[in-house]
Amino acid sequence: GKGEYDHFMHKEIHEQPTALAQAIEGRIDHGSGRIALEDFEPGTFEGIESVQLVACGTSYHAALYGSLALNAAGIRATALLANEYSVSAPPVDDDTLVIAVSQSGETADTLNALRQARASGARTLTLTNVVGSTAAREADDALFIRAGPEIGVAATKTFSSQAVMLLLLAQRLADDVRGEPHADLDSLLPELAAMPDRIDAILEASTADRVARRYADSESYFFIGRGLGFPVALEGALKFKEITYEHAEGFASGELKHGPLALVTPETPVFAIFTGEEDEKTLKNAEEAQTRGAPVVAVCPEDHRAVAVADDHLRIPETDADLAGLLANVQLQLLSYHAADLLDRPIDKPRNLAKSVTVE
Ligand code: F6R
Repeated sequence: GKGEYDHFMHKEIHEQPTALAQAIEGRIDHGSGRIALEDFEPGTFEGIESVQLVACGTSYHAALYGSLALNAAGIRATALLANEYSVSAPPVDDDTLVIAVSQSGETADTLNALRQARASGARTLTLTNVVGSTAAREADDALFIRAGPEIGVAATKTFSSQAVMLLLLAQRLADDVRGEPHADLDSLLPELAAMPDRIDAILEASTADRVARRYADSESYFFIGRGLGFPVALEGALKFKEITYEHAEGFASGELKHGPLALVTPETPVFAIFTGEEDEKTLKNAEEAQTRGAPVVAVCPEDHRAVAVADDHLRIPETDADLAGLLANVQLQLLSYHAADLLDRPIDKPRNLAKSVTVE
């Protein structure tokens, strides 16, 4: 049941500290300081030359996050929309690892892409929440995010767990393929272990309800970020439109000036995500919107210079650039939740949507 919560979505947002602790549990070898993924002996991924991640919706945003982490770790990786795969798949061979990212493991579009990749000779891996799901059974290998059941149609905790698992997988792949994990592992592993506490801190002190109320009558909601903040901007906008029925869009910060700036008015709040990757550029992009009258809400740590510039602030604890976007995402989940609650939307079951999309 929902326990003390009015909605499963709210409950599941609050389950993220536990979900992430479960995802990480036993998967970091603190002795060697390396990633240990149960079924994958060291060397499992030797010979892999490139990775394609296929997914839809929120899982696609996690896949995009993962592709950036893989590239940063020196592995060629691309995130692809599973529903586009049949018409636009890049070439694959037996040195290609195709990773299906799917909470349910039953999404028809993702299963189609997985089957096509297998038929083309790629090696396949499914990252999913559901043991025994079709995608888990059909891929060569499966890796489970262990987030626990997610009932709300809007994916929340599973996004965070997918992204964290892809960060771990990126390090394992780098270890196998390049003979060494990504150089920043010494700082990343303790930061990963601290994620549950950091998310708890956000859940206890979030002002997302106040911010949601302040901008409740807006025309459109924009989310911007760069680097790992970009998939989070896309995810922030998807969650917002999905449960509030208000128009929302996510952009790469640098894209604003290439068209979307024409839409910016005092009625279009801009939520700017700062992850520590070229934040000064993102701040400049946000200020360009502010100059046109848009209120700017900075999602960043307390002592960040964006706080003084922005009209409002959603605070996240300091962490690695690899993880800051996931903390920002928790604030954006809360923002969407409270905005939808104010509008009295059926949060756990938005109109026209299903938890598991088994049609093409
Ligand atoms: C959005 C949402 C959907 C799913 C998408 C893929 O909140 O939940 O966009 O992410 O339908 O579903 P899975 O991950 O089950 O393949």
